[in-house]
Amino acid sequence: MLADTARFAALAGELAAGTPCAPRRARAVADYLGLLCDSIHHHHRIEDEVLWPTLTAAAGDAVDVRELTDDHAQLDPMLAEIRAACADLVARRPDAAGVLAERLTRLHTVLDEHIADEERTVFPIVAAYVTTAQWEKVEAAARCAVAAVWSPSRSASSARTVSTGPKATDPESRPAMVPALGSRS
Ligand SMILES: [Fe+2]
Repeated sequence: MLADTARFAALAGELAAGTPCAPRRARAVADYLGLLCDSIHHHHRIEDEVLWPTLTAAAGDAVDVRELTDDHAQLDPMLAEIRAACADLVARRPDAAGVLAERLTRLHTVLDEHIADEERTVFPIVAAYVTTAQWEKVEAAARCAVAAVWSPSRSASSARTVSTGPKATDPESRPAMVPALGSRS
């Protein structure tokens, strides 16, 4: 998601600077960014509804996800603003590309900080407290959410790469970090 927000911010900046943008291209940009916003929203929803409760149940007072939850609440309106800017781009409203570039740049900055915070806060707790069975439930929920957004029927060309997190300390009882959560891609 960081790579996409950065490259689409750059693209929108080029459009704002005068690079031609045919209606078909504007629609393709809007469609892709719509999927990206859906993906970010579902990613955070799975964290709020599945991962945080798992961490809290496993680690108790050793983990505090309140700031991360607050970040999610801050990010949702930003996604709505990006969807609105995309609609303006498709409608060929003046300044739409510039506004979109600005909003994507801001989203990228906030997401970058948020994901760095998550890696610092969440990964050590997962490695220390969460069992493989618990993690598999989180992973399954994340896979469902990703599949719902990036299904072939919604996007034929939405290849998505994700990074892996730190290795578990004990491969027999601790999960290896998996794609879809805590990704900096
Ligand atoms: Fe998050």
